[in-house]
Amino acid sequence: MNSSEYEKYHETAANYDQTRTPVGLEIVLGCFAGSPQPLSAQTILDAGCGTGSYIKALNDKFGYLHGLEFNENMLSEAQKKLKETPNVRLGLGELPDIPYDEQSFHGLMFNQVVHHLGNDNSKEEFGPLRKLVQEAHRVLRPDGVVVLNTSSQRQLRDGFWWADLIPEAVESIARRFPPIEKIEEVLQATGFHSIGKIVPLHEVLQGQGYLDPQGPLKKTYRDGDSTWSLVSDEQLNAVLKRVRAMNEQGTMTTYLEQREELRRDVGQATFVFGSK
Ligand SMILES: C[S@@+](CC[C@H](N)C(=O)[O-])C[C@H]1O[C@@H](n2cnc3c(N)ncnc32)[C@H](O)[C@@H]1O
Repeated sequence: MNSSEYEKYHETAANYDQTRTPVGLEIVLGCFAGSPQPLSAQTILDAGCGTGSYIKALNDKFGYLHGLEFNENMLSEAQKKLKETPNVRLGLGELPDIPYDEQSFHGLMFNQVVHHLGNDNSKEEFGPLRKLVQEAHRVLRPDGVVVLNTSSQRQLRDGFWWADLIPEAVESIARRFPPIEKIEEVLQATGFHSIGKIVPLHEVLQGQGYLDPQGPLKKTYRDGDSTWSLVSDEQLNAVLKRVRAMNEQGTMTTYLEQREELRRDVGQATFVFGSK
């Protein structure tokens, strides 16, 4: 499956940064610090870099950063953002292939990308994940580190307050997210060691606007997460009606509090890492 089949990044690229924020930066830094080379001497690849938010935030910590992105509009947003940064190289490319020579990088990160690659959890088909991890292993130097930021099945259901409003779309997208245990298994089978995972509980992918009680009524808000692109027009109309009613009747605050209680327990993202 081509990733753009369900997420219209060519349309949403310009607004992407209003609705998404790079979470877990300290986790990524901590993982890459596990490599013997000092951070300032490392060359890092951000594969599926989107608008380049992780590269921008981490740029001054590393020697060189490369960004690989499949969508031209997302790449062009990254280019605008990073045009003043001489240690950054950006290019077009389609994962799971990683078009670099072997042993090119000290570190490699995939932030919220793996669910776009055509894995099918319901059929136990994880070919794209296996290929991706093999490619990561190939392009990493010995002792290099891979960090894969994704969401667990439970996070998809309980980590996003509005997921409860669109359960069919959530179940549909959950099939595209390989379970965390499967990612760990594939890392191990490919030859990675020192595998682990970390869940940041204090951050949300959407940043400050996340708890907007009217958020789902706005297209820009919905465009911030690919799950919404799987909601049919009919379902969306029903959701909009429900959200309006909750706001008018004053029940939205309690609803958000209940959903937040779950999110604080489970988080939204899981960082899985391993060393070559
Ligand atoms: C949810 S966004 C994450 C962007 C960025 N990593 C971040 O966390 O801010 C997913 C990104 O993966 C890109 N993508 C999807 N399929 C891809 C593929 N096959 N190869 C490279 N990039 C891909 C999309 O175009 C989009 O920019």
